Amino acid sequence: MAIGIGLLGSGVVGGALLRRLIEDRQALGARTGLDLEVRKVAVRSVDKARDFTIPRHLLTTDPEEVVGDPGVHLVVEVMGGLNPAGELVRKALRAGKAVVTANKELMAARGSELLDEAAKTGVSLLFEASVGGGIPIIRPLTETLAGEPLSRVMGIVNGTTNYLLTRMSEDGAQFEDALHEAQAKGYAEADPTADVSGSDAVAKAAILASLAFGTVVHPAQVYREGIEDVQAVDVAYGATLGYVLKLLAIADKAEEGITVRVHPTFVDSSHPLAAVRGVANAVFVEGPEVGELLFSGPGAGGGPTATAVLGDVIDAARELLAGPRVTPRVRFGPGRIVPFEESITKWYVRLRVLDAPGVLAAVAAAFGQADVSIKSVWQEGRGDEATLLMITHDAKEANLRAAVASLADLDILKEVAASIRVQSDEP
Ligand code: NDP
Ligand code: HSE
Repeated sequence: MAIGIGLLGSGVVGGALLRRLIEDRQALGARTGLDLEVRKVAVRSVDKARDFTIPRHLLTTDPEEVVGDPGVHLVVEVMGGLNPAGELVRKALRAGKAVVTANKELMAARGSELLDEAAKTGVSLLFEASVGGGIPIIRPLTETLAGEPLSRVMGIVNGTTNYLLTRMSEDGAQFEDALHEAQAKGYAEADPTADVSGSDAVAKAAILASLAFGTVVHPAQVYREGIEDVQAVDVAYGATLGYVLKLLAIADKAEEGITVRVHPTFVDSSHPLAAVRGVANAVFVEGPEVGELLFSGPGAGGGPTATAVLGDVIDAARELLAGPRVTPRVRFGPGRIVPFEESITKWYVRLRVLDAPGVLAAVAAAFGQADVSIKSVWQEGRGDEATLLMITHDAKEANLRAAVASLADLDILKEVAASIRVQSDEP
């Protein structure tokens, strides 16, 4: 029996998927034993020029037609956004159709509700491509590592910002130029501020943390800082101190609860994440029994992402044929989300100061009063304009903020020019 497939969207990801479903149908059949037949494709514009020309009889501009088509057994949602994608997915699941989606925004915001919906009708809702593009990470978390009480998931989960940071630090590219390149390559979201502001990474961090720790983490519970305010001078200072700047998503589970955050972070240049360049993503997973695992590969782009979607399509099609009901792979229980102010990290702080006697002592006193211990200090420049670079030991977020705020009272301070978190195994 052929499995009827309907696509909601055929852009960067959907287009790459459609090409393979249509051009490789025979080869896929030979490899998997499945006959996957595309029956309907919804797009916004039927006349748009596309890399892959979609047979006209498949096209519609009404996504409801895809979800409502009795010949469509499996819906692939690659249109993006919360609306109308969310309601279309819900309707498809209610109608007993399996759903595969690449939409992290949707899965982060409504994943638990939609997974419940899928469980009610006993169909699959698969979302491997929602995190890490072509990297298998959702399936390892929900299946291979299902028995491991994981303690940490940390990584580079946005290809666009990693591409930007790499081009800026290695080639001296300007921010805007590098962003245009990322858009042209199909890495960026429809609105690239989602990438640059960190909100795309927040959605992925929320999905990873929810799956790793078995508790629903909502995007609003994830601390977020993007790369908009990153200055080239700090990337360069960081390099001289042995650090590489990355936008990291970090989810930790300790006795007090779960902390999830996304922010620019200096990592040791010897750390494996420092070597993750360009559009590549990498996710570290840590657990008491399994130790450290690293999943890495292309984090965005049509081809790699379509591979992840296609894997889900094949998996969901097999389950449809096996019938009658699919056992849910994911279950969520209670858990405490720790307020971000309680999280602990090391810091890089850059101050513009007057080079007057007692400056260092005054800065050190302000940090000491806030219970922030300074590990190293460097000074550059003399007289009216000097730069102090400091690396702290582990400090509570709230304490570092209090220390920085109290510097404002010092006459010798011109500006707290940058404060960037540091992820380092050094004491
Ligand atoms: P695109 O913007 O390239 O494609 C979106 C597609 O959806 C287009 O074909 C568009 O039609 C169609 N569409 C949008 N809204 C509607 C609507 N209301 N009715 C009918 N059709 C509609 O997005 P991407 O392919 O880049 O991304 C798709 C999803 O995959 C997103 O959730 C994204 O976050 C996710 N993703 C993307 C990755 C990437 O590298 N690009 C990687 C991993 C995940 P038309 O073509 O006519 O404009
Ligand atoms: N815009 C996203 C990124 C696509 O750059 O990582 C992959 O989810």
